[in-house]
Amino acid sequence: MVVIMITADASVETAVEALNQGASAYITKPLNVDLVLATVAQALEKQRLVIENRRLYQAAQRELVERKRAEEESRRYSEKLQELIEDIIKAIALTTEMRDPYTSGHQHRVTQLADAVVREMGLSKEVAAGIRVAGSLHDIGKMYVPGEILSKPGKLTEIEFDMIKTHPKAGYNILKTIEFPWPVAQIVLQHHERIDGSGYPAGISARDLLLEARILGVADVVEAMASHRPYRPALGLARALEEISQKKGSHYDPEVVDICLKLFAEKGFRFH
Ligand SMILES: [Fe+2]
Repeated sequence: MVVIMITADASVETAVEALNQGASAYITKPLNVDLVLATVAQALEKQRLVIENRRLYQAAQRELVERKRAEEESRRYSEKLQELIEDIIKAIALTTEMRDPYTSGHQHRVTQLADAVVREMGLSKEVAAGIRVAGSLHDIGKMYVPGEILSKPGKLTEIEFDMIKTHPKAGYNILKTIEFPWPVAQIVLQHHERIDGSGYPAGISARDLLLEARILGVADVVEAMASHRPYRPALGLARALEEISQKKGSHYDPEVVDICLKLFAEKGFRFH
């Protein structure tokens, strides 16, 4: 509703009071027709703008609520998808370990240590997510190695060891077809490479070695040495940490080794 106050009282107080009471405009007598028409037109325009403003505000509010709802739905969906991916990865990891019961839980424990190293180094969430996936699947290529070799008690022959050494490349071939947002296949390919070029399969050195592969390589060795293997009893954690300390800077990335030692010595890290 548009209210225009018409009065014979020309005082400022009356005008202010009229406007405070909700009048859209204020005209004093004697009336001038042109002024009345212009005032009415102005008041109507003002009213139209108020209504339009309110309509726009309500539309913006509705859009905001709708956008928030859509964002929430998309967040829940991507969380569900992430959980699904992790479950599939766990299932694949279990398949690998079923063929190699002696190393059951190995990939999980290696991932646990590698993840702790990544966090201690202050690396990004992306690096952490990539290393968790690569760690969980790093020995997937062992599917191509005959089960008798994987669980053979006692020392392996050179040929048998050569067959074991094919697993990083086999793992790479399996994983390279999946478009992960992280270099998972590359990390798996490089997890037995060493910074001085003495590793396998390609014998590449520090310059070409992904940081994630250096981290995984150290975590892999520590876990493997600390655990029981069909061809030898567990060497123990102390021996494993001694190994990485001795070969720090030659086989293993010095910073990764230092962080790893710190995790066990000062941060109370334990495999579980
Ligand atoms: Fe491996």
